[in-house]
Order: sequence, then structure tokens, then C-alpha cells
Amino acid sequence: MQQRTQRETWTTRLGVILAVTGSAVGLGNFLRFPGLAAQYGGGAFMVAYVCAFLFLGLPIAFAEWAMGRYGGMHGHNSSPGIYRVIWKNRIAPYFGVLAMIVPVGIYMYYVYIESWCLAYATRYLLGAMNFGADAQRYKQFFEHFVGLHAHGESLSTPGEGLLGSAVFFLVVCFILNFILIYRGLSKGIEWFCRWAMPALVICAVIVLIRVLTLGTPDPAKPDQNVLNGLGYMWNPVKTPAMLAPGEVPKSFWEGLADPEMWMKAAGQIFFSLSVGFGIIITYASYVKKDDDIALSSLTACAGNEFCEVVLGGLVTVPAAFVFLGPQIGSQLSNPFALGFMALPNVFNQMPVGQLFGFLFFFLLFLAAITSSLSMLQPAVALLEEGLGLNRRASVAVLGFITAIGAAGVVIFSKDFVALDTLDFWIGTFAIYLLATFQTILFGWILGVEKGMAELRRGAEIKIPEFYKYIIKYVTPLYLLVVFFLWLRQNFVVTSPEQNRIRQLFTDPVVGGMAVFILAVGVLFALLIAQSVKNWRRIEASQEEIVI
Ligand code: ALA
Repeated sequence: MQQRTQRETWTTRLGVILAVTGSAVGLGNFLRFPGLAAQYGGGAFMVAYVCAFLFLGLPIAFAEWAMGRYGGMHGHNSSPGIYRVIWKNRIAPYFGVLAMIVPVGIYMYYVYIESWCLAYATRYLLGAMNFGADAQRYKQFFEHFVGLHAHGESLSTPGEGLLGSAVFFLVVCFILNFILIYRGLSKGIEWFCRWAMPALVICAVIVLIRVLTLGTPDPAKPDQNVLNGLGYMWNPVKTPAMLAPGEVPKSFWEGLADPEMWMKAAGQIFFSLSVGFGIIITYASYVKKDDDIALSSLTACAGNEFCEVVLGGLVTVPAAFVFLGPQIGSQLSNPFALGFMALPNVFNQMPVGQLFGFLFFFLLFLAAITSSLSMLQPAVALLEEGLGLNRRASVAVLGFITAIGAAGVVIFSKDFVALDTLDFWIGTFAIYLLATFQTILFGWILGVEKGMAELRRGAEIKIPEFYKYIIKYVTPLYLLVVFFLWLRQNFVVTSPEQNRIRQLFTDPVVGGMAVFILAVGVLFALLIAQSVKNWRRIEASQEEIVI
């Protein structure tokens, strides 16, 4: 067993559940999910979504919780250490490169989007978000603020001082994240999630009540009412009042036959539950030996689904429909357009909209920061337990690496190319790889019998026996099919300009970001190699003591 001077743990069971739920509930719940569900038609999309939840999200979450606690019992909190305990093979810890690069890489762009939420919330609070009835003004503001049209444009917004500087808000968010991480697991992450999660839900419920009581705000447009707004989001097939001019409704069965929808539903489940991120495994390693992880895992997943389907699903799109009508359809596939361009226009038209605008963007900010925090902990765990760095040093090293990546996202802001490159290669591709590795590790290497026994120890609920077969056979197969569809779409049937491999060589920003990702991967591989050496030394000295 690893020798440790101090072992961090969560203070309470509620604390760990809130921290894991906080990691899951994020921008994906309130911006990405509603857009996807409405785009593909609530009915068909929800079938694919529920299947992905039951056969991918939930089993992988169970696996991560069980492997995490198992690794924690053997003295490890970092994924490389945990993989090594489970799989006695020299290469096992090196799969940890993925478990480092996924959360760290996602953090680099996620924190930037988080900072837009803080900026919008602050601007609402100070009355600086009211641009009148012209929808174009909201669009222009956002595009300029984030530097969508020129590299580095977001570095300076003339005439607005700090309030118009995306970089200022990014720095604030960055520092906040690292202060909380520096304070540690229970005094930082757990403490923050204990108040941020209830505050987020309260804000969301207030905004939800406002949206559900909107009625028909413009009597001249009777079809733009709340019921149609909810129908637009959830009806399996759109009624004529919900169609934009010239739009042909898709039948439920046509929707269901769309492979792209199944892929997107699976991607949404990964992103939303933070599974395949290497986060849950680290968080779970800090629970106590007999804590009920089955119930905690189920509660965290259920909490995320409540925030996603109920709060996210009933607020964003219905509100946008009520004020903007069916033409909102053109913005659904772009969460940024929906959240940062359409919704401010909606709040402007809503009675007392400035207050609700503030509440909405503040809840988005809370949702985002509880997620971004969790993306830092896996690497901190490795730097501390593998290299023996103290908290100050590990936070400084990680701060340096993530600052370079985030700076790249801000500097190469034109058309969001840098952000999109990280989101594609890390936020989608690497997540598939990591999720597949962890599923095989649990189902086939640790062994599903041993893994399920671990999951059941201390559990007050009984995970059904058939889940064993789901984790061992159905989940890997499901992952493979979805991954194959995804590869085909992005690398085979796409146009040459959109082919992601080709872009690596033709677009210098895409190529540059890819080289950066590789460099970070190599750095983590070296850190893992050094950690393995240290662990071997400790193990050898312990064997000597026993002899
Ligand atoms: N799970 C986090 C989200 O949904 C990353 O935003």
C-alpha cells in the first residue's frame, strides 16, 4: 500500500454527492441539451438520450465510482495510480495520460465560456446588457466580446473598460478556480459545492416559474405562447404553429432512424454526466471504504438529469420560442448562439427581464464553475501523490499549463477555431477513448464480478444483477458502434474542407493546437513515468520492512 502522510477525504456524504453532481451539472445542461433536444424533436431524441443514459452513462459512472473507491483503499487518488492497482501491467498507468488530458484540456476552453457567463451576469447586475429591441445588437456584442471575427479581438473592447473585457473575466474565473482548488478537497471543492448547488437550483426554479407563467406576451402573435413553447421543445412531431416558414416536419420514426442523432445523444450523456472525463474516479477515491457508492452514484446521476431535463429543458428553448417564435430553430445547433445571442434578446422583452437575465447567467456561472473545478482535481491528485509536490507547487504547475492553453483559445479566437479544436479532439474524441478503456478495465480486467461486489459493498440499494451483463457486453458494444459512426461522419463521409484530419495539416491554428495537445500529453506521460518510479521505490521499501 502507498505510504501517505495525510489522506484527504470528503467531510460528509452529502458533500461528495453535491461535488459529483456539481461536476456533472454545467453548461451542457442548460445550453447544449435544450438545443439538441429541440433540434432533433423532443420525442425521438429522448429515446436515444435515455438509451445512452441507461447503457452508457449510468454503467460507466458506476464503474468509475467503484474503481475510484477501490483505488482509494489502495492509497491512490490519481487515475494512473488507480489503473496500476487494478491492472498489473506496465502500460496500465500510461492510459492515465488520457485521464489527465481530458479534464485539463476541457478546462482550457470551458473556463473561457464560464467567464462569459460571469461577464453577462455582472453586466445584467449593473444594467449594462440592455441593447434595446434590435436582435442584431446582441449578436454583435457577443461576437465582438469573444473575438469571433478577428484573432485576439476579445483582448480589447474599446470604450467599455473592464466590463467589456472578456480577458478580465477570464482571469477572475481562472483565479477563483485555483483558489478553491488550493483550499483543498473539503475546504475548497466540497465547501463551495455545498452552497453553490442549492443556490443554482433556487435561481433555476425562479427563472422556470417566470418562464412557465409567461402566457402569451404578445397578443398579436397568439401562437407564441408557453404551451407551444413547451411543445416546440418536447412534442415528438411539431404542429404547424411550431414550424418556421418552409420547414417540413420530421416524423418520429424518421427522427429515430437518424444515426447522427444517436451519436449526439451519446456525446451529450458523456459530456453532461462528466463520465469518461477521469473526474468521478478521482472524486470517488476520496470516499471511505464502506460508503454507499451505489446510492451516491445514482443520486448524482439523477440530480444531473433533473437539472438537465427538467430545469434546462423547460427554461431555455420554451422562453426563446415564446418571444422569438419558430425562427429560433436556426440557432439551436449552436449553444453559444442560443445562450449568448438569443436569450439576452428574450430577457430584454420579458417583464423584469434584467433580473431574470442576471439569475439565468449567474446560475450558468455557478453550474460552470462547479464543473471546471472538478476538471483540475485529477491532475492535482497526480502531481501530489505521484511526484510528492505540495499543494502550492501542484497548483502552480497546473495553473501554468492551463493558462497557456486558455491563452491560445483567447488569442486564436477567430471563428472559435482553437476552442473547437480542443472540443473536438479532447471534448469528444479523447472522451470516447477514455470511456472505452475504463469500461474494459472494469468489465474485463478488474472483472465484472469483483467490480459489482465492490459497487455493492456498503450499498443500501441493490443494483440489478443484469447490470453486470450490460457493463460487460452492452456498454462496450454500444460504445464501439457510436464511435464507429462518429469516425465515419468526421473522417470519411465529410467534405474535404471539413475533414478533421486534413484540417490538422491545412489550418495552422488547428495544427498548432494539436501540437500543443500532444506536448501536454507527452508532459503527462513523463510525469506518470516519474510517478511510477516513485511508487515502485515506496513499494520496495515497504517490502523490505516486512522482510
Ligand atoms: N458535465 C459538465 C457539463 O455538463 C462538463 O457542462
